[in-house]
Amino acid sequence: MSVIRVRGGNPLYGRVSVQGAKNAVLPILAASIINGGKSVIHNCPDLTDVRISVDILEHLGCRTQYENGTLTIDSSEMTECSIPHELMNRLRSSVIFNGALINRMGRSCTSYPGGCNLGHRPIDLHLNAFSKLGIITTEEHGSITCVADSITPCRIFLGFPSVGATENIMLSSCRSNGVTRIVNAAREPEIVDLQGFLNSMGANITGAGTDVIEIRGVSKFHDCEYSVIPDRIVAATYMAAVVVAGGRVEIANIIPNHISAFIAVMRECGASVTVRDNSLVITAPTYIRPVRMINTLPYPGFPTDAQSLIMTVMSLAKGTSIIRENIFCGRFTHAAELIRMGADIDISDKMAVIRGVRSLSGCSVKAADLRSGAALVVAALASDGETEISNVCYIDRGYQDFEKTLSALGADIERIETVD
Ligand code: UD1
Repeated sequence: MSVIRVRGGNPLYGRVSVQGAKNAVLPILAASIINGGKSVIHNCPDLTDVRISVDILEHLGCRTQYENGTLTIDSSEMTECSIPHELMNRLRSSVIFNGALINRMGRSCTSYPGGCNLGHRPIDLHLNAFSKLGIITTEEHGSITCVADSITPCRIFLGFPSVGATENIMLSSCRSNGVTRIVNAAREPEIVDLQGFLNSMGANITGAGTDVIEIRGVSKFHDCEYSVIPDRIVAATYMAAVVVAGGRVEIANIIPNHISAFIAVMRECGASVTVRDNSLVITAPTYIRPVRMINTLPYPGFPTDAQSLIMTVMSLAKGTSIIRENIFCGRFTHAAELIRMGADIDISDKMAVIRGVRSLSGCSVKAADLRSGAALVVAALASDGETEISNVCYIDRGYQDFEKTLSALGADIERIETVD
């Protein structure tokens, strides 16, 4: 067990380079089994979720090698099509392996996935899409078995632009005898990256990044080499950290368009943000202005994954802000911990009303999921005294060298191993 201990009050100065995107690399790792050959994946972050995915790949019979941010996967000798519950349960995005396994093996046997605790996370959109594609799904005793001799190309309208369901349709249908069209598809940059990766191994997919994706089925795939996009939420995390702690930081290795909504809100808060081609420089405001209303929305709207970060920033604003969480229920777990640190927040259903306070005060807090954990570290950077954040395992799912990076910028932060 470990905790992160922060003594707040130090402004941040310097430069950070943003890691590869967790939410892009995870579906790409699942997709790597499709070509039955070698996939070389650059800019692959070293995260717990990536390690669990690698464990799944090895369980399936793939050979893997990780060196200097490059993961090589050889799926030529893959034999397995089932993933045991102990592995499925450790990772929410393990559900994505279903589409890839159906593509490669014509069959998958998995269980309901695990992952962050963001309230009820159904997979009905995935299963309905599978059924339209001619995949026969049986659910029994918590297990899901999917079987398909071949894929039936079709038009699939998603009632909600689910990221995971869009990915599963792309993965399962790119080997077929016709065109599958996803209407009201998710438009997230991670979907564009999955299209790029699948096309690099021979798939023929167009439209990712818009709400209609066309997947022209192919029958052959080949070895590939690909570089993962930078993590837009990690970039947002460092921006939020500068705004609350003070200072000026260059955030490099980003795609500025991917974080337009977050940059706009940072500017509304009073921060100065200078955007360059692949980097930006953010300077903290003298005081944080409140933001009247933030709605989390599918991309390109304000990301739900950055909601905890903006709540932390608003906790220290000069005035009242409102956040409406529209994507996940149960995604305000960080609010109770921020209140323990002195924040003034009222939650009612999907709404949070945040009345900014002058300062937060350090205490012991607990991360309840990945992004709430990151938000608590950000809050701690601006708090009086010492904060100890436990359940660090959540933070390790998505942030590589988090405390080392913040420490290099001037934060007083360390990881302490504790004895249970
Ligand atoms: C992905 C991201 C997650 C991000 C989310 C929304 C990964 C590994 N995770 O999660 O970080 O917060 O997108 O941007 O990429 N839903 C259903 N039925 C389904 C599927 C989803 O009702 O079959 C609902 C969910 O409960 C949720 C909403 O749709 O309320 C969004 O889910 P989805 O877009 O699928 O998110 P994930 O792919 O799980």
